[in-house]
Amino acid sequence: MALPTINPTTTKAWEALQSHYENIKGKHLKELFATHPQRADLFTIAWEDFYVDYSKNRIDQTTKDLLIDLAKEVKLDEAITHYFEGSIINETEDRAVLHTALRTPVNKNIEVDGKNVLPEVNEVKQKIKEFSNKVISGTLKGYTGKAFTDIVNIGIGGSDLGPVMITESLEYYKNHLNVHFISNVDGDHTHQNLKGLDPETTLFVVVSKTFSTQETLSNATTARKWFTQNAPNEAVGKHFVAVSSNIANVTKFGIDEDNIFPLWDWVGGRFSLWSAVGLSISLSLGYDNFEALLEGAYEMDQHFKNTPFEENIPVILGLLSVWYNNFFGAESEAIIPYSQYLHRLPAYLQQGIMESNGKSVDRKGNPISYQTGTIIWGEPGTNAQHAFFQLIHQGTKLIPAEFIGFKHSLFGDQDHQDKLMANFFAQTEALMNGKTKEEVVEELSSKNLSEAKINQLTPFKIFEGNKPTTTVLIDKLTPKNLGALISMYEQRIFVQGIVWNIFSYDQWGVELGKQLATKILSEINNSESYQHDSSTANLLKKYLVK
Ligand code: F6P
Repeated sequence: MALPTINPTTTKAWEALQSHYENIKGKHLKELFATHPQRADLFTIAWEDFYVDYSKNRIDQTTKDLLIDLAKEVKLDEAITHYFEGSIINETEDRAVLHTALRTPVNKNIEVDGKNVLPEVNEVKQKIKEFSNKVISGTLKGYTGKAFTDIVNIGIGGSDLGPVMITESLEYYKNHLNVHFISNVDGDHTHQNLKGLDPETTLFVVVSKTFSTQETLSNATTARKWFTQNAPNEAVGKHFVAVSSNIANVTKFGIDEDNIFPLWDWVGGRFSLWSAVGLSISLSLGYDNFEALLEGAYEMDQHFKNTPFEENIPVILGLLSVWYNNFFGAESEAIIPYSQYLHRLPAYLQQGIMESNGKSVDRKGNPISYQTGTIIWGEPGTNAQHAFFQLIHQGTKLIPAEFIGFKHSLFGDQDHQDKLMANFFAQTEALMNGKTKEEVVEELSSKNLSEAKINQLTPFKIFEGNKPTTTVLIDKLTPKNLGALISMYEQRIFVQGIVWNIFSYDQWGVELGKQLATKILSEINNSESYQHDSSTANLLKKYLVK
């Protein structure tokens, strides 16, 4: 069953939102809180270990109702059913979108082409579990009989960002194995990573769904060359494993079929960390933690699937994003985790969100006349406060920001945790309230400054405030809660894609650059010359001069 193809701008709710926007755009958040002192209770969702407070957004009850009407008019509920049931909702690639099946318990039933996929998913999970246990315990050994000490994940995009983000985020739970990630085709990055590794104790995990990605194949070839400079060719089989759906290409590369961890075409690259793409996660954190991650994601999936829109976290967050993007004209959104462990989360979500919803053609193939995917960026707080927060506070752009924080720290240093979280709370309050002229004058006057000095400084010290934020406060950074958090974003991506009437699960835009790079590489290697614009031609000439 195909997804509905409703242009959101033709809905009644859209029209109503447009006139409602005219009423609310001039209102200050302070005013909204003053008129409804219980606003925080009204606009908060408590679910499991999550407490999502979206009250510091430029909305009122009418906004929420209309956004939900919009979701209903574009038939979000119907779309959710198709998605979870495994309909071909990635129509341009003729595939189902079933990363949710990877975290579904094996006793359920999810069919693709009339076949329940869960037994097969479970088989691969068992393979991941056994392999991880053997590597971690040292039972599986390298070619000289030594246990593995280092794991090198070679992959790019979804075959890198998920595993690297999770292993960094859950470093606290890590075992003795050192994990390294080689992604970029930049040889300096590759050789820098190989430098210092011992071939006798290094295991390479080559991750590529298609096994045709230039970066990954180049890096895997270089790693194999590095390896066989020190080890016999026959040892490759013991030190290289692959994660891929392209078995033929992997065996051609020289990896035994037994050492291949398969995945399926219904797992999109940027949603694949839950599959065997997460092998390095399971190796470095242990299979139990990998499973806890899946469990958290499954629970969030169930919340998304079964909760009325009014109380549904991914639905509300997705609709808020639509509200700012399409009515306020906000172009970007900041994601600020108040945990240094989550420092790769914004980069991970950049792929998830921007590769999915950066589209300008609707589901019927027509050009779109409204805004779609938002620009995602961010860094952990408090570092971000000392870097780009100035612009969010006093710049000219409206940047809705999501703050993610944890009630409990992992090492239990309460002094640090209180300081970290004091900043977390203070920033959203400051962004909302700002500082008025009167407050600035009063503050400066208390410093015994001359009137002239006060007048001179006042305009620079005023903060307009009214900057929207959403706070996601989670009990503790555990594998399970992280799984739920990532699923929350995945489902939010889905909601927005449905509202915008686009296909979120293809990525044709990445292809053009790849095609041209292949052409230019052959030009560099074979001195063939193609027709280029004068800028590219000059740059190539400059590069080719030895
Ligand atoms: O960047 C495009 C892309 O296709 C991503 O969607 C994917 O995650 C990445 O390339 C890597 O692809 P593969 O796993 O096939 O090497």
